[in-house]
Amino acid sequence: MELGARISDDYRDDPPILVNVLKGGIIFMADLIRATDISVEIDFMEVSSYGDGTESSGVVRILEDLSLSITDRHVLIVEDIVDTGLTLHYILENLETRHPKSIRICTLLDRRGRREIDLQLDYVGFVVPDKFVIGYGLDLAQKYRNLPHIAVLEDEEIP
Ligand code: IMP
Repeated sequence: MELGARISDDYRDDPPILVNVLKGGIIFMADLIRATDISVEIDFMEVSSYGDGTESSGVVRILEDLSLSITDRHVLIVEDIVDTGLTLHYILENLETRHPKSIRICTLLDRRGRREIDLQLDYVGFVVPDKFVIGYGLDLAQKYRNLPHIAVLEDEEIP
């Protein structure tokens, strides 16, 4: 995988902690780390949006925090899809308070047409149109994560 090679080259001298935001990014993360040839460490964080859950509000509750300290370490956040960017913006602000050496973002999918907050995405797999996608870890109400490919749900509104 091309992204794994780029990440390996960029962090050859000081390997990062890859932080996966559960749950959608697990399959991508699993494939991504196998495509690296540096000694990365991995950690996980689970978040959920406050509110009625139908819209990304950007106010996020941490359900499961990192187990590793990221202070003075390079951090690479691994996401399944960046949509409005609100969730990631919150996570970035939260992680910044722990004084990492750097934070970059790697996302498999970038639905940039719906962005509400300007974020710098350092590694992007694919830019996708404004359609709801499932499979390869991505869910609709917790289902379809096990599809081996990414599929578009034509009739599904993006919440
Ligand atoms: P954001 O805060 O709007 O950028 O929301 C990002 C999160 O919403 C992602 O990490 C996904 O968990 C979820 N999400 C956004 N779009 C989709 C989709 O098309 N399929 C499945 N999950 C999605």
